[in-house]
Amino acid sequence: MKVFSIKELLDESPSLMTKEVFVNGWVKSVRSRRFIDLNDGSTIKDLQIVIEGSKFASDFLKKITIGIALRVFGTIVISLGKKQSIEIIAKEIKIYSEISHNYLRGTILQPKHHSFEKLREQAHLRFRTRLFSAILRIRHQLAFSIHHFFHKHNFYYIHTPIITTSDAEGAGKMFRITSFNLENIPNHGYLDDFFGCSTYLTVSGQLAGETAAMALGKIYTFGPTFRAENSNTSRHLSEFWMVEPEMAFYELEDNMDLAETLLKSLLNDVLNNCVEDLDFLNWSFIKNQKPKFEGQNIVEILYFIKQHSFARVSYSEAIEILLSSNLNKKGKFKYPIRWGMDLQSEHERFLVDKYFGVPVIIFDYPADIKAFYMRINDDSKTVRAMDVLFPRIGEIIGGSQREERYDILLNRMKAFQIDEKVLWWYLDTRRFGSAPHSGFGLGLERLVQFTTGMSNIRDVIPYPRTPKHADF
Ligand code: 4AD
Ligand code: MG
Repeated sequence: MKVFSIKELLDESPSLMTKEVFVNGWVKSVRSRRFIDLNDGSTIKDLQIVIEGSKFASDFLKKITIGIALRVFGTIVISLGKKQSIEIIAKEIKIYSEISHNYLRGTILQPKHHSFEKLREQAHLRFRTRLFSAILRIRHQLAFSIHHFFHKHNFYYIHTPIITTSDAEGAGKMFRITSFNLENIPNHGYLDDFFGCSTYLTVSGQLAGETAAMALGKIYTFGPTFRAENSNTSRHLSEFWMVEPEMAFYELEDNMDLAETLLKSLLNDVLNNCVEDLDFLNWSFIKNQKPKFEGQNIVEILYFIKQHSFARVSYSEAIEILLSSNLNKKGKFKYPIRWGMDLQSEHERFLVDKYFGVPVIIFDYPADIKAFYMRINDDSKTVRAMDVLFPRIGEIIGGSQREERYDILLNRMKAFQIDEKVLWWYLDTRRFGSAPHSGFGLGLERLVQFTTGMSNIRDVIPYPRTPKHADF
């Protein structure tokens, strides 16, 4: 007989009424030894199991406690309770294993309020909480929708390497990869190392992605990326997932259009497919944060973003706006702004939340604060870069039109002290059939963080890696 997931049972309940079924799951709560709430992770909803009369020995029922795994065989009926539409009258129950109460007491499986820090300390158990399981189902939906979006728009999924030889992307500090015994490094250094050269964990698949786009047209890479930066903020991870589309013959405008369409489509998919999880998160969002952006709760904010055009403003215009704002005049910005500076989160928040009231795409940044591969504008001062800024989290996407002119690119590399011998293959794309092209990177965790309303990025990835933390 088929074992149903709780989601399947609830979705198909009209056709299953009075049928006998098997379900598996973990006990969420037990009331009066008569009602068991069972959850198998397939949905945020629990399934009520009803124990009738004296069908089971009381010694057996005593063993059914919070956290244990069960298999239940029983009949589906309409529930008389208000909380649920259906329930199962148990005929047979199999206990997979029992739990010692002493062990359970110190864990987050205890049904009471636990802080986010405590949940993180028991990251291996937090999958069982309603909060974290809801976040992970939404994370799944977003990852799946990313693939779906690009496949639908005729992009090819390219697997770019995790182990890279170039430390020249400029996106941040890299983790070195070595097979050396660090206590006893051979004399010849990296020449004796596993690959015979210096190798690192990738900070971005972009450069390899560009080489693929210059043949396949439209590609995307989607994988883990690594940054050895000592950033202990609620928006930075040392290991995070990034989706990076790269498109031949796209200019910056096309790049911005794609970024906006992608983000709206992803939010739309979550709104359509994750209703119950979003409802649950809405409640915890309102409780834990004081939303300042348009709309009262996450669902309203997601709808709002889906329906409104993003503001597009050049870096120089953004600086003008910030310079003339009262906050700047009264010295209320912690970092007074001037042209040439990277925007701090207080500036980003002002532009998004206060000035425009919609997500903002800032483009044409000063060349000095952006990477070497971005296309230089005719003013020689700015590059065709773009950042998409969202409420609450700031930068969600970073990208650019790429410098496709060989000589200019080579000069930029020299100015950044990048060894052209290391990136000879990258330069080849500008030697053989070079053409305008553009791309961007969207951080999956920032997107999940925004969609779920979580304030800390460590709570939207199963096992977060941050400076001094790789505990599991
Ligand atoms: O702006 P970044 O560094 O851009 C790149 O790496 C480009 N090579 C992308 C490209 O053009 N193909 O990173 C892109 C995005 C950011 O906007 C942010 O969403 C996310 O990646 N990100 C991080 N997310 C979590 N933790 C970190 N430490 C992150 N650094 C960047
Ligand atoms: Mg960036």
